[in-house]
Amino acid sequence: MRGGSPDHMPDELPHLWQKPSSQVLLGSLQTLRVEPPVWGIKPPREEILREQEKQQANTPREIITFLSSIIKSSLAWIEDDDEKESIWEEASRRLAERCGRTALGEITRQWPFEDPAYGNFTLAIREPPMNGDSLGLKTWGSSYILAQLLHTFSSGPLSHLLSGDNGPPPPILELGSGTGLLGLAAACIWQATVILTDLPDILPNLAHNAQLNQQTLLSRSGTAEAAALTWGGTTPDTVDPRFTQGNRYELIIVADPLYDDNHPLLLASTISTQLALTPTARLLLMVPLRDTITKGLLHHLRTELSRLSVPLACTDEKVVSGQDGDWGDYGDDDEEKRVGFWWGFFKRDVA
Ligand SMILES: C[S@@+](CC[C@H](N)C(=O)[O-])C[C@H]1O[C@@H](n2cnc3c(N)ncnc32)[C@H](O)[C@@H]1O
Repeated sequence: MRGGSPDHMPDELPHLWQKPSSQVLLGSLQTLRVEPPVWGIKPPREEILREQEKQQANTPREIITFLSSIIKSSLAWIEDDDEKESIWEEASRRLAERCGRTALGEITRQWPFEDPAYGNFTLAIREPPMNGDSLGLKTWGSSYILAQLLHTFSSGPLSHLLSGDNGPPPPILELGSGTGLLGLAAACIWQATVILTDLPDILPNLAHNAQLNQQTLLSRSGTAEAAALTWGGTTPDTVDPRFTQGNRYELIIVADPLYDDNHPLLLASTISTQLALTPTARLLLMVPLRDTITKGLLHHLRTELSRLSVPLACTDEKVVSGQDGDWGDYGDDDEEKRVGFWWGFFKRDVA
């Protein structure tokens, strides 16, 4: 027996030789749940596990042995096949929660926003099971870090668009939205309409997340829609027809878009075709300075933006420190990786 007073001590895990009922097994498996971490106010996952272990009557080794024994057992004394399936499924999930992010499959995390400037709200963001290729199915540090800075911009570099003095906020275009955290936060904080865009494959989850947060959006006078916009795409399945007219958006936002050599050119060209040709139009960009490769890609993008037929020039920029990845993104399952995040505003070089 470990930790806590006997009054609060949860029951010992059942032994399979005692042929526990499916209710008893499922009940024990529920007590072993590890909730996904939340960034910002979160304790690291290692700490969550440590805290939960303190509450448990069993050691981590005993828990793993218990879970493995369920998965290996035929559960022959339980007659109902559906009940057996549920028990195996729950046991596998409890094991996966104790492994890395990839093992966990689909998760929905809560992302809190708390600031006196706009009050409190929480966004729920679903991340489907990770596969190596689909970076847009994961939420990246940039989107949360930039989302938490948004309210400071509405009285600063974006006051001419968002202060309300010149009417309601214009529709905002987000490029490479991924799971949609940044764009949904922008809709809530700026009380604006945001068009979340990404590759066609990423769209179903993006649309799901927009729908999942409908109530929050509604209560904060924001709206969000998801549409395909592939940088460099030319066909209707890769670029939604609403984008064919071009140069309609007074504000474009982008977080962590660069990881391939061709991204700077493709992204600059998409920004060029979508950003309004007005002196008031702005591009807001965040790039994590992870390594020499991302720094090089950012340099390349800035060069491409300065070479457009109507060039874009940087008006404000800063580097802030923050957490880039979590949950095994860097090999060590619980490592918290802090890097510098560069943000910049760009405007058209027009009178
Ligand atoms: C590193 S993720 C960042 C996602 C999100 N902005 C965030 O910070 O969580 C890069 C995003 O760019 C998208 N992307 C990559 N190439 C793209 C392209 N050619 N057209 C549109 N989106 C693209 C990916 O699908 C992915 O969602």
